[in-house]
Amino acid sequence: MGRQILIVGNWKMNGTINETLKRLAEIRRRFSETPRCEVVVAPPFTSLYSASVALQESSLKLAGQDLHWESEGPYTGEVSGTFLKEAGCRYVIIGHSERRRLCREDDVMINKKVRAALSADLRPILCIGESSEEREAGETFERLENQLKKDLKELHVHDLEGFNIAYEPIWAIGTGNTASVGQINEVHDWIRNYMAKNFDAPSANEMHLLYGGSVTKNNAAEILQGPNVDGLLIGGASLDPEDFVKIVGLASEKE
Ligand code: PGA
Repeated sequence: MGRQILIVGNWKMNGTINETLKRLAEIRRRFSETPRCEVVVAPPFTSLYSASVALQESSLKLAGQDLHWESEGPYTGEVSGTFLKEAGCRYVIIGHSERRRLCREDDVMINKKVRAALSADLRPILCIGESSEEREAGETFERLENQLKKDLKELHVHDLEGFNIAYEPIWAIGTGNTASVGQINEVHDWIRNYMAKNFDAPSANEMHLLYGGSVTKNNAAEILQGPNVDGLLIGGASLDPEDFVKIVGLASEKE
């Protein structure tokens, strides 16, 4: 058996506390535990603590959707890794393309966030990906290399334990335009090699490489067949408990 599969539902800005609890109850009702998969949901910040209380007896894990790089201080509106950890998170999504674009997060900020997550004992899910213009211009790998180089600056081999990278081509997010299996495998193989070359092979081999961008119950199984695809970061389809649990079931069947 290879690496455990990580299935992450990114709920984005969807769900009051009540809706979050209802959705979680629905997921748990349909869900059967499987050692093959770790299943994670990322509800809005305001729901995290209530969700962690509701999930105490469950194997489902929580992720924050972002964090600030300082642990506390005069940063109005921000949430630190320490707070996320205390609220019950095991993971945190960092550098999602919506934040890069809408909140102007750059790779310097993202690197600080990655390091803050590690010091708060949170497992990062670092998102990287190219735009459609970059792909068309043949600059995909240049773009990814640039992101990895800057986002992982000053990290060491030991930081890679529990580390996750999500390949999320910007053009595939929320568009229904999923990357092809060939494109996904090519990028995932490349990321694994990059990590082996720049850190070391055993740690690179243990990390989880996730794909995200218009994943549905209809394409999840095929995407997961890739030897270097260890999980999925799912937006839209994770809001429907039936679809989400269906995808977890498909993931648990990965050979
Ligand atoms: P999507 O979102 O599945 O709705 O395309 C993925 C993501 O933003 O992580």
